[in-house]
Amino acid sequence: MKYLVTGAAGFIGSHLARQLLSEGKDVAAVDCFRDYYEPELKRANIADLLKNSSFKLFEEDLSGKDRSWLDRAVDSSEEIIIYHLAAQAGVRKSWGEEFLQYTTDNIIATQNLLEWSMKRGNIKNFIYASSSSVYGRVTDLPMVEDRTIPMPDSPYGVTKLAAENLVRLYTRNHGLPSVSLRFFTVYGPGQRPDMAFSIFIKAIREERPLRIFGDGSQTRDFTYVGDVVRGLRLSEECTDGRVMNLGGGNTLPLLEAIGVLEEAVGKKAELDFLPVQPGDVRDTFASTELLSKTTGWKPSTPLLEGLRCQIFETENRQN
Ligand SMILES: NC(=O)c1ccc[n+]([C@@H]2O[C@H](COP(=O)([O-])OP(=O)(O)OC[C@H]3O[C@@H](n4cnc5c(N)ncnc54)[C@H](O)[C@@H]3O)[C@@H](O)[C@H]2O)c1
Repeated sequence: MKYLVTGAAGFIGSHLARQLLSEGKDVAAVDCFRDYYEPELKRANIADLLKNSSFKLFEEDLSGKDRSWLDRAVDSSEEIIIYHLAAQAGVRKSWGEEFLQYTTDNIIATQNLLEWSMKRGNIKNFIYASSSSVYGRVTDLPMVEDRTIPMPDSPYGVTKLAAENLVRLYTRNHGLPSVSLRFFTVYGPGQRPDMAFSIFIKAIREERPLRIFGDGSQTRDFTYVGDVVRGLRLSEECTDGRVMNLGGGNTLPLLEAIGVLEEAVGKKAELDFLPVQPGDVRDTFASTELLSKTTGWKPSTPLLEGLRCQIFETENRQN
């Protein structure tokens, strides 16, 4: 059995690849090191993994027409489990000219990989990293997979939903085994530098005010990256194309989350309130009943503990 992890040098992909290696699995890792944030950070994410002979890195672009390198990455006789995490992430930048990059990396790249998977065969599961952003503005919380109609509120969310639908229709029409997991605001060591906790930790250390978009009462379902990796691993046996929320059970207003962050850092933060940004939804809150019933998964990391891990790693990387 081979594991193909796309976006393996990214925040979540590198944690997943590390977990797979620790289980003794063979990992073919794909990443084209987009410069949405510093590629050096991505290289640092996988520096330890590259020393492991079971980890092979393919610096390739999944949105390109040439897919022959995929045949070289995995032997034709091997069964494969694909974890498709490669994407252009981030809500705020997905407007305007940047949208082309979002459609390329989120839709075209996914369709390429699905086509290759279908033709190749021997795919045990295609596990897609979807997002809470597919839901958009929801007032009837929590978000429940078969009750809440996905209506994205950002171009990013539109592309993630399009890719999720593509995965579903390759399962329905071509029998490709798949499962999609909608992640909710993932945090932890190596979190992308454009995400709130990363920005806040940096600002607190540099004694700068935290920029809050809105009045801080907006809620988020914060999910620790270790819990996400566990959810991904437990979902491996689920191949019927279902879509499940993967949310951390730490749903808090942003101001309360900042209180927890201040406790973790041991420092008070100054706050600077700014207008709400287009595409930022007011609330996210996952029902995780379906995932729990299907796989037995439950989130296990309280926000304070997860933030302490993130801060510890941030300090170690800088020293
Ligand atoms: N971080 C979160 O809170 C969150 C929430 C919801 C969903 N997700 C999803 O989880 C996945 C991982 O997110 P992340 O936060 O680790 O992001 P990330 O940006 O750290 O990782 C994504 C990686 O994919 C790579 N990539 C992009 N386009 C590619 C292409 N065409 N070919 C090959 N590699 C490509 C990038 O270089 C990057 O290293 C994404 O699919 C994202 O949409 C993340």
